[in-house]
Amino acid sequence: MDLQLDGKRMLVTAASRGLGFGVAKTLIQEGAEVILCGRTKGSLERAVHKLGTNARYVVADVSKAEDISQLITNIEREKGVIDGMFVNAGGPPPGQFSELTDEDWERSFHLTLMSAVRLTREALPLLRESSSPSILYSTSISVKQPIGNLLLSNSLRPAVIGMMRTLAEEISRDGVRTNAVCPGYINTERVQELMKATGNPDEAMERITSSIPLGRMGRPAEFGAVCAFLLSPMASYVHGALILVDGGMYKGMM
Ligand SMILES: NC(=O)c1ccc[n+]([C@@H]2O[C@H](COP(=O)([O-])OP(=O)(O)OC[C@H]3O[C@@H](n4cnc5c(N)ncnc54)[C@H](OP(=O)(O)O)[C@@H]3O)[C@@H](O)[C@H]2O)c1
Repeated sequence: MDLQLDGKRMLVTAASRGLGFGVAKTLIQEGAEVILCGRTKGSLERAVHKLGTNARYVVADVSKAEDISQLITNIEREKGVIDGMFVNAGGPPPGQFSELTDEDWERSFHLTLMSAVRLTREALPLLRESSSPSILYSTSISVKQPIGNLLLSNSLRPAVIGMMRTLAEEISRDGVRTNAVCPGYINTERVQELMKATGNPDEAMERITSSIPLGRMGRPAEFGAVCAFLLSPMASYVHGALILVDGGMYKGMM
């Protein structure tokens, strides 16, 4: 299937590694031009070097309002249109209720929820200039079932879904599609670090993969393929949807 992404202009946030990088790579393989962002110039340079001439980067911390403004202004100055935006950020810290402070909640609110709010607000005028505009919010399986020790993710990511579903009504008249993707376990550097932090990565991997019906974690390229489709004109009738990419890990009926 031709995803009709040739020459489309995509913004992929938090993309020097992991899920964002996987999405950027697939979009580029499908012919899109991609603007990446992240907080660290060196990592972004390495990512763009791997991705080739259809990638460029802007250094931006999506938890900061001023960085998001500068990111979108930078894109607008070059060409006033974005065809698709993959909204992603680093993960909020783990922790149980009794351990987390107001500061942890506040920082995570800006990182997880306000980044999505502000990116949407700032990018909408550029998306409205596209013939096939689409926003894809990257959340987590935690919006469907809470994950132990991840209170902040379990609490704040569902708010992104609430916004996405509301926007699906509010901005559909502009032709902007909004969807969300919910990864289970995709084997990125972050996941590998989490495994190492347990002190017994083999045992941790075995415990997790035994809870996944497909018997393994996903690969960033598998996640990227689903996201590239959802962002593409070929998904023109997919709107307001939550798509799990979890190897069957979610156990609910709906
Ligand atoms: N991998 C999974 O299985 C999985 C499952 C569910 C949810 N998630 C969530 O998906 C997101 C990405 O996970 P990942 O596994 O891809 O992590 P990763 O491998 O650690 O990559 C994170 C990327 O985000 C960038 N980043 C982090 N904080 C940022 C910020 N404030 N502003 C801009 N860029 C930022 C990092 O670059 P810099 O550090 O240079 O900024 C890096 O490029 C996280 O929120 C994670 O909780 C992941």
